[in-house]
Amino acid sequence: MNLLDLKGKTAVVTGAAKGIGKATAALLEQAGATVARIDIEDAPGCIRADVADEAAVERAFAQAGGVDILVNNAGVAVRKTAFDISADEWDRVIDVNVRGSFLCARAAARSMKSRGGGAIVNLASIMGFSGGIFPNPAYQTSKGAVVNMTRALALEFAPLAIRVNAVAPTFVRTPLTAPLFSSPEILKKVMEHNPLGVLPETDDIAAAILFLASPAARCITGVTLPVDSGYLAR
Ligand SMILES: NC(=O)c1ccc[n+]([C@@H]2O[C@H](COP(=O)([O-])OP(=O)(O)OC[C@H]3O[C@@H](n4cnc5c(N)ncnc54)[C@H](O)[C@@H]3O)[C@@H](O)[C@H]2O)c1
Repeated sequence: MNLLDLKGKTAVVTGAAKGIGKATAALLEQAGATVARIDIEDAPGCIRADVADEAAVERAFAQAGGVDILVNNAGVAVRKTAFDISADEWDRVIDVNVRGSFLCARAAARSMKSRGGGAIVNLASIMGFSGGIFPNPAYQTSKGAVVNMTRALALEFAPLAIRVNAVAPTFVRTPLTAPLFSSPEILKKVMEHNPLGVLPETDDIAAAILFLASPAARCITGVTLPVDSGYLAR
């Protein structure tokens, strides 16, 4: 028996046009799931929706059909210090990363409830457990909220057989981190906080998401699994 088999399951992946979301959608498909992709960008194969927009989320989930698995991956960062970030920039980070994850979790859970269960995997971050190594307070705050929303929804949805977990990646090379990694000094500092000496690839994050979404994790709920090459072990 293959505990990672998702044959017959329908998954929704948000922010699936690129980066971790794109790799995850492909891996879930490889595991046998039918995958609906949501993105704010007009990308081929994606349902277009801003996850922070409640009406757009409801429309997108109606279009996706029944849901067994949700990967709450859409996320943004505004890397500015507390002194430099505007209130609107702060709000946008919290809106997409926290409100957006909540709205999608709720829409998915309504469908999962009628299907007898499901699995939700949120994208937290090592920044949800630490103050980070560069000032980025809106992002750090939003990911801390995702960690605790994961616990809260896990408890609320447990009687419905809906599991809610999260992954917490360290820095992964994607369009989100491209501006950081263009600087050799920043890359050097990132690697000083990477005991294994390996930056995860998008597929490494997708693998952890597949595990948490699959029957292999049937007794796991409310946890956030670091995929961090040892960052949080210090
Ligand atoms: N890359 C990293 O180092 C890293 C580390 C830890 C956590 N994460 C988290 O992983 C997730 C994916 O990150 P990534 O690096 O692949 O990002 P990315 O910027 O490469 O891709 C994010 C995708 O989400 C989409 N998106 C953004 N805002 C959206 C919205 N409001 N509605 C719908 N779609 C939206 C974008 O269009 C894009 O396709 C995010 O939640 C991020 O915070 C990333």
